[in-house]
Amino acid sequence: MLRAMAELTRVATYRRTVRASADRVWENVHDWEHLPWLHRTSFSSIELRESGDWGWRARIGLQPEAPPRAIELELVLDSNAPRYVSRTLDGPGAGTEIWTEVRGRSDTATDISVEFLLPDVDPDAVDRLGEGMVALYTRLWDEDEDMMIHRAAGLTRGAATSTATESVELGPLAELRARLPLTVELAGKRFRIVEDDGELVAHSVVCPHMLGPLDAAAVEDGCVRCPWHGYRFDIRTGRNPDGQRLRLAGAPRVDVDEGGRVRLRP
Ligand code: FES
Ligand SMILES: [Fe+2]
Repeated sequence: MLRAMAELTRVATYRRTVRASADRVWENVHDWEHLPWLHRTSFSSIELRESGDWGWRARIGLQPEAPPRAIELELVLDSNAPRYVSRTLDGPGAGTEIWTEVRGRSDTATDISVEFLLPDVDPDAVDRLGEGMVALYTRLWDEDEDMMIHRAAGLTRGAATSTATESVELGPLAELRARLPLTVELAGKRFRIVEDDGELVAHSVVCPHMLGPLDAAAVEDGCVRCPWHGYRFDIRTGRNPDGQRLRLAGAPRVDVDEGGRVRLRP
């Protein structure tokens, strides 16, 4: 059924400089998968319908999860200008268009300008709706910016290929236990030591998907779950138990000698 085009009202414009390159910003625009993970306080789920160089379309669950509410959203790049539009096709706010212009300034600065165009707006509600949209987008861009900065740093470090050849002494077992989980650096790479099922295990803290941080990820059923896109990795084998062809980088072995001292061995 064709929906009549509602008149749209611009309720606010949000401008900021994001501390990341335009490449990181455009990568983030295409990255539909992070919505319910990185932005878990705003979105509860996502089901991709289709995607391509043009953008993507998906069904997105909204927070709070109860009562269940979802929108059908398409994000389409403008082929004539450095901007894209997010259109709500169905669900709460259907007809809304959010236009975002992206202008890179340097490797660490990109200007964005976001216009919020809402359908059927009561003139008395413009300011309130605008403030709500700006508050939401400030939070979303804060979360995106943290991810982009962390990823850019990881890409810069990524070239480091040094490998540990020496084992490292970590002191008496009882003292180490009291400090777990503990992140240590070895030959330029970071690993976290955790106790799982009574066993000390070291695992890489860099997610092999897009370099997300695993330093603070909870260990459940022997797996860490990345906070950026929700992929899981077995901390012992490094494998993804859900069929992704991704694997954590090899980690040192944690040994306890007869004297009760712990060593990381390459
Ligand atoms: S960076 Fe995507 S799941 Fe970790
Ligand atoms: Fe985002």
